[in-house]
Parts: sequence; C-alpha cells; structure tokens
Amino acid sequence: MDTSFDLKSLRERVQRWKSAGLTVALVPTMGNLHEGHISLLSRAREIADRTVVSIFVNPIQFGKGEDYENYPSTLDDDLNKLERAGLDLLFAPNLSELYPAGTEEDTRVTVPALSDILCGEYRPGHFSGVATVVIKLLTNVQPDYALFGEKDYQQVQVIRRMVRDLLVPTEIVAMPIIREADGLAMSSRNSYLDSEQRDTAALIFQTLTAAAALVREQSRALADIEAEATRTLAAAGMRPEYFSVRRQDDLLPAGAGDQNLIVLVAAWLGSARLIDNIRVDLDRPIKD
Ligand code: PAJ
Repeated sequence: MDTSFDLKSLRERVQRWKSAGLTVALVPTMGNLHEGHISLLSRAREIADRTVVSIFVNPIQFGKGEDYENYPSTLDDDLNKLERAGLDLLFAPNLSELYPAGTEEDTRVTVPALSDILCGEYRPGHFSGVATVVIKLLTNVQPDYALFGEKDYQQVQVIRRMVRDLLVPTEIVAMPIIREADGLAMSSRNSYLDSEQRDTAALIFQTLTAAAALVREQSRALADIEAEATRTLAAAGMRPEYFSVRRQDDLLPAGAGDQNLIVLVAAWLGSARLIDNIRVDLDRPIKD
C-alpha cells in the first residue's frame, strides 16, 4: 500500500493508472476505520481496478462546540486495516494541503434546500463543509466511482446533488449500513458511549424498525408514528433531534402520493450524536 500526503503525488499516481487504462474508485473517510468503512473499500475493489481511500478529519464540517478536537484518531490501526483490505493508495493530507488559504474566508460549495433540513437544521454549515471537502477530493482524484455509506443518507443525497449540478463525471455509489450484532449502526462516535449507554443505543434501531413496520402498514398517521418513536427514545434517556418519515429522493416530509420513503433519526445519547435510517418502499402510494 502506497501513501500520499500531498496533492501533487496523489495526482501523479492516479494519472499513471489512468494512462494505463485502469479505472479508479475513491472512498473518502475521516479515519477511525470500522467495518462500515471497510465495506465501502471492499466494494470499491470489486468495481474498479484501483482504489484510493482518503483519511482527513475535515474541520469545516464540524460546528462550534462539536467534537472536531476530540474526534477519534487511530492511524496505526487504520493503516493495518487498510493494508489487510488490500488498498492501493492512502491519501492522508494535512490541513494546509486541502485548505491552503485557511478555513475562514475560503470558497465553499453549498447545495441548497437539502442542506438546511434534518441534520442541516441542527448542524448549520455542516453539509457545506462536507460538499466542499468532497469536491476537492473529486477534483484531484477524478475517480470513476466514489463510494459513500447510507448511514449518512442525507450526506449521500447532498453529494449526489452536487455532482449532478456541477457536472462532475464521477459515479456516486451508495452502500448499505453496516450494523453491530444488536442493530446499532457502526460509527466512530459509538466510542463516546459508556457501557450502559451502549446497551441503550440499540433502542435506536429497534425503534426505527418498529416505526418502519407501522409506516409499511399504512394504518396510522405518520405524525403519530414519529411522535411515539420520539417519546420512546426520550423515555430511555436520549435527546432526539428528529425522528421523521421523508421521501427518499429529496428528503421532504412524506405525504399523499409518495411511495419511496425513508425513516430517519438523530438523537443524542450522553456526548454522542447518533444517526440512523431505514428505507421503506410501500406496496402502494400513501392515500390522501
Ligand atoms: P466518515 O464518518 O469517516 O465516514 C466515511 C464513509 O463511511 C461515509 O461515506 C459514511 O457514510 C460511511 N460509513 C460510516 N459508517 C458506516 C456504516 N455503519 N455502514 C456503512 N457505511 C458507513 O462521512 C464522513 O466520514 C465525512 O463526512 C466525509 C464524507 C469523509 C467528508 O469529510
């Protein structure tokens, strides 16, 4: 496995592959790798001839008071995992490599509408931070494919929209959520939970699953299902930000005529902000 720390050597290496007619996949990450990340890498290796993983904790997608300073860093462990998974190139830039003009008055990419709802409402600027770093990576790697996890479903939709609008010739590939045995979606932030909280956290997926089943039955109002699920999480000591049934494509609230839905949740448990979702494809559209 090769490592690049700077854009120049990254571009040179990728260019060499492209000149040889090889296809390239990119998997952007912030490190602290777990099986969710590795599943993206494994798929990348199946669909492309060469795979690049980036590890970069992107400061501009963290809000004030969020966990940028404490975000878990496990570089040695990450390197072992990547080596075992058969990565071709790791790109691990430092801050000034990706933000040579600093992070105060630099250019930002903003995807309208989609960025302001759900997580965007609670984390202003977050998706602009994500879109900005992802466009930098896409521009410099120019991959045939870029892979993202559906655990961050809204992130995938923001990136799809950006790629569409900015005419980026990369195919965005979304991959299913990898879960722990009790259903908790794997996440670097799970390490913030103590053992009691870790047990409680399983309730997020249980509540999502129960709500998804009710949505599928179409016998109760969506607002009731959302309210009951929110109460369940709060009663277990969580602080839910939203629990919402939306349309899969534009993430607007689901209503009459909609059929391809997604139930999304964000909730705080201790110092961990956890998110999860389940897609629900109805047999028939929602009635008036
Ligand atoms: P990070 O949280 O490190 O996640 C990197 C990729 O792994 C994302 O596409 C994320 O959706 C995916 N992922 C995380 N947990 C997963 C799980 N349990 N199952 C499947 N995929 C999972 O997301 C980011 O980093 C950043 O926002 C980034 C896109 C790198 C931009 O900075």
